Amino acid sequence: MNGHRTLGQKIEHFTSVDSTNDIAKRLAREGAGEGTAVIADIQEKGRGRLLREWSSPLGGVWLSVILRPDTTSERISLLPLIAGNAIANTLNKLYDIDARTRWPNDVLIGNKKVSGVLTELDTAENFIVVGIGINANIDVSEFPEEVRGIATTLKEEMGREVSKEELIDCLFLELDDMYEQYGSGLVEINCSTINRRVKIITETYELTGTAKEVDETGALILELEDGTTKRIIGGDCIHLDDSA
Ligand code: BTN
Repeated sequence: MNGHRTLGQKIEHFTSVDSTNDIAKRLAREGAGEGTAVIADIQEKGRGRLLREWSSPLGGVWLSVILRPDTTSERISLLPLIAGNAIANTLNKLYDIDARTRWPNDVLIGNKKVSGVLTELDTAENFIVVGIGINANIDVSEFPEEVRGIATTLKEEMGREVSKEELIDCLFLELDDMYEQYGSGLVEINCSTINRRVKIITETYELTGTAKEVDETGALILELEDGTTKRIIGGDCIHLDDSA
């Protein structure tokens, strides 16, 4: 490992765990410092957003990092977006592929998902765990049938395996950079959802409109058909113009 600053300065590596987020939360409660990371080769019970399962076979990058920002800040909900941006930057720098972020925190290649972020906040203990999954050296056929059509992997896109060590190294540098920018209040979020027609699906409603911007708290500002705007803080987002 080289050049890491705060994030990933200490890494706990496991062969197989239920979920790296759970281990990171335990370590954080035991007092592990900001930037401590947990990496596993396999997750038996990987978790995605909205209580979904996250398929985590051998070959992927499954990691969680502990952050200790001010969890009472409204800006805290920018952190998943920041992680998504850091992942997309990493993939574009290393492999020259067109990875882009979809609000709130998916990373896509073409219109298929290559990476996702699950952040979990503990306001009582003032920490946040950022869990990152990157489908790296995996054959799509290893995924459950229901995700095969919507997920991709680096191996699939590039026709070769990548160095996980290089990928993780570069990712921590990008995360570190973005987190520093977040700390200084001057972070720039790129999100390919902006200016697209989108469908937002939450547990309680579905809305269609044009994504106008991501505000300073990470919420999506959606312009509805009747010209009014709505501020959306979570849910699934479908890009209607390219079925992503
Ligand atoms: C999503 O897009 O739904 C989020 C997926 C997040 C997966 C990562 S893999 C490492 C960490 N541990 C987990 O159990 N989940 C996250």
